[in-house]
Amino acid sequence: MITKVLLDIAIMSAIGVILALLMVIAQRWLSNYGELSININGKRDITVIGGNSLLSSLSEKQIFLPSACGGRGTCGACKCKVDEGGGPVLPTEKPLLSKAELVGNIRLSCQVKVKNNVKIQIPDSIFNIRKYQTEVVEILDYTYDTKGITFKLLDEQTIDFKAGQYVQLESKPYEKVKQKAIRAYSISSKPSLQNRLQLIIRQVPEGICTTWVHKHLKVGDKVSFTGPYGDFFLRDTDADIIFVAGGSGKAPIKSILEHLAETGTSRKMSYFFGARTVRDLYLTEEMQAFEKVFENFEYVPVLSHPEPGDGWTGKTGFVMPFFKDAIRDPQNTEAYLCGSPGMIAAVTKSLKEYGVPEGKIYYDSFG
Ligand SMILES: Cc1cc2nc3c(=O)[nH]c(=O)nc-3n(C[C@H](O)[C@H](O)[C@H](O)COP(=O)(O)OP(=O)(O)OC[C@H]3O[C@@H](n4cnc5c(N)ncnc54)[C@H](O)[C@@H]3O)c2cc1C
Ligand code: FES
Repeated sequence: MITKVLLDIAIMSAIGVILALLMVIAQRWLSNYGELSININGKRDITVIGGNSLLSSLSEKQIFLPSACGGRGTCGACKCKVDEGGGPVLPTEKPLLSKAELVGNIRLSCQVKVKNNVKIQIPDSIFNIRKYQTEVVEILDYTYDTKGITFKLLDEQTIDFKAGQYVQLESKPYEKVKQKAIRAYSISSKPSLQNRLQLIIRQVPEGICTTWVHKHLKVGDKVSFTGPYGDFFLRDTDADIIFVAGGSGKAPIKSILEHLAETGTSRKMSYFFGARTVRDLYLTEEMQAFEKVFENFEYVPVLSHPEPGDGWTGKTGFVMPFFKDAIRDPQNTEAYLCGSPGMIAAVTKSLKEYGVPEGKIYYDSFG
């Protein structure tokens, strides 16, 4: 009896192993799409091995579409027009595509798998995005959870970017994290420093990339990133400017101000920086120093939760009531916002109520 039971178990196990093997073989066979072509803008063909996402197939050929969430289908930054060969739109794409985008064949390139020859359209500016190898040359502790990290570009490379743009940093595997992660970080240094750049990175609890940066990254480490990306940069007009930032959202505004300090401006500028407590403030003296550099600039830190021991005598609450007074002509005001999605939504709503045109409100949402 026992022998029969053992025999049955052995037969069932053998069938299980054979089925698993057949599935692996079938999957390999089914996902073996061979060499396929991606036609770009009707001009250029590249050959890729099928089966990978459109985003990663392009990046293997050194064509880097923005991918702020690292291909997780949550940021929508990787959109591109797929005219042919993209297959049906996936449920993972729909929440991030508008009706007009769906009709216009816009797709999330991180979700589209290359299984056929594909025809796509991408802006020419994408071809300026490169991959850079760098070495960490300085790590500064700005607050208990925010670091300023300077990278030197290796191999005599230089980077051209507009103040306000971002790069995508590639973290390395560590501890239980077995894969690299790619995340977006705004450049906080000025564009004229072409062979080095600084990022300001705030630790997100349990965050893959920020934990690597805060707990593992050291001076001398080699790090790669791609860039520059994004349309968050200063428009060349004479309009008044409202800057609003929270936390590490200070990074691109710092770059813009350092750039303006070099090139000169007489524009009226007000900068509101929102933080919880005194512990969350940083680079305050550097920002206040710009009040002496520019003719018409004010830096206004606002604390939402000052602690009794902080001795804070400055502005408290949310930033919204304070920037109303700084708007002298709403139609001739541009706003540049950077930080959490919640802050950006609340500030945008107030700006529109104060009469600032929606088309003049520019932002980078760090969510
Ligand atoms: C255009 C752009 C520019 C950016 N610039 C900067 C910058 O200059 N400095 C900077 O520090 N960050 C910046 N970010 C945010 C950054 O890209 C990462 O999202 C962030 O650092 C978290 O990465 P992570 O791998 O550590 O966390 P993940 O492992 O991706 O996330 C862990 C968890 O935290 C949540 N989470 C993710 N991001 C945040 C967040 N910012 N706050 C709270 N919870 C979060 C996630 O939903 C998830 O549940 C920028 C984002 C964008 C889109
Ligand atoms: S890379 Fe973020 S949605 Fe595709």
